[in-house]
Amino acid sequence: MSRLHRKNDHLYEVLRKMPGRADFSEISFVHNCLPDCDLQSISLETSYMGRTYRSPLFINAMTGGTDLALRVNISLSLAAKNLAIPMALGSQMVALESKSLKAVRSFRIARMLNPGGSLWANVGSYADTLLALRAIKMIDADALQIHLNAAQELAMPEGEDKFSGMITRIRDVAISSTVPVIVKEVGSGIAKKEARLIAECGVKGIDVGGSGGTNFIDIEGGRSGQALHPEFKEWGISTANSLLEVIEAVGESDIDIFASGGMHNPFDIAKALAIGARAVGMAGMPLYILMNYGRQALCNWIRNIEDQLKLIMMMTGSTDLVQFRDTPLVITGYTAEWMCRRGLDPDRYARRGNDE
Ligand code: FNR
Repeated sequence: MSRLHRKNDHLYEVLRKMPGRADFSEISFVHNCLPDCDLQSISLETSYMGRTYRSPLFINAMTGGTDLALRVNISLSLAAKNLAIPMALGSQMVALESKSLKAVRSFRIARMLNPGGSLWANVGSYADTLLALRAIKMIDADALQIHLNAAQELAMPEGEDKFSGMITRIRDVAISSTVPVIVKEVGSGIAKKEARLIAECGVKGIDVGGSGGTNFIDIEGGRSGQALHPEFKEWGISTANSLLEVIEAVGESDIDIFASGGMHNPFDIAKALAIGARAVGMAGMPLYILMNYGRQALCNWIRNIEDQLKLIMMMTGSTDLVQFRDTPLVITGYTAEWMCRRGLDPDRYARRGNDE
């Protein structure tokens, strides 16, 4: 199965059913009955990796390489421009390896249509420094994502089964990169020990890419007809648990932490931002809305999430995302149990904001 066929398969597979939702249900806000602010004064502005954005949302890496991917990237980049939010391109390995001008154009189009926007290049962790620098140059990128996808590769009959040396390559790329480097998972999450190892490589961002949203183990199994044991579909650290782990591990450093993996409900997004994520990435759901209802519907949907975020912030009495990161959160059930067993303290969140 060629890389190009796989790119189209992924787009079609995601359209077959509504992408899954992250589970933040065991994390609750504490209502503030005396919010000392006005809705008009609430700001969603967020700063990370040296830039300030009007919104904490971004479109995460998806596609490139084929004619269909070109059309998707045209629509996504116009939506990202309209919304003034960052957008990551899909893995550029397909264009870097084939050197096909058509494949290169399917990525470069995003920069042509959105010259002043924040566009992020994307390569796999098997890319060396030369490939990574070429990916950055291809779209004149503002940042580079390196994706980790061991579970996805193992679920593909033609997938990679050699993963040694990843951390060395990430370090080499981070040292030589001309733009900030973000390391991301694609749906299995990142735990605290690995977050520390990644942080030590000199990257500027970590995107947890937890389980609960787009499920590549399911998608690759369905695509290839390979009989994977059903329990593999449940593999991975949930987005909520992974975010809590990564915040614990590197939250005090100057590394920006992003939440992704099934993040498309305003309440889940708000909880991730209150836990400490600087921004939230979405992939499967924006694609689903774009392909089924069009670009205007996608822009309306994202603006609606932003409006709902402001209402939630209002009800915690937070006028900006810095204050919001100090709002109390009560973490219960399996999420709290996971935290305790992993040496994290759920009460730290419940007692925030001088709420002793
Ligand atoms: C992806 N994702 C992805 N990630 C990456 O780093 N490089 C890639 O090429 C792709 N390709 C891709 C294709 C399609 C169709 C989808 C839906 C997703 C993964 C994506 O960036 C994200 O990490 C996961 O999809 C989890 O987020 P969602 O989809 O649950 O919001």
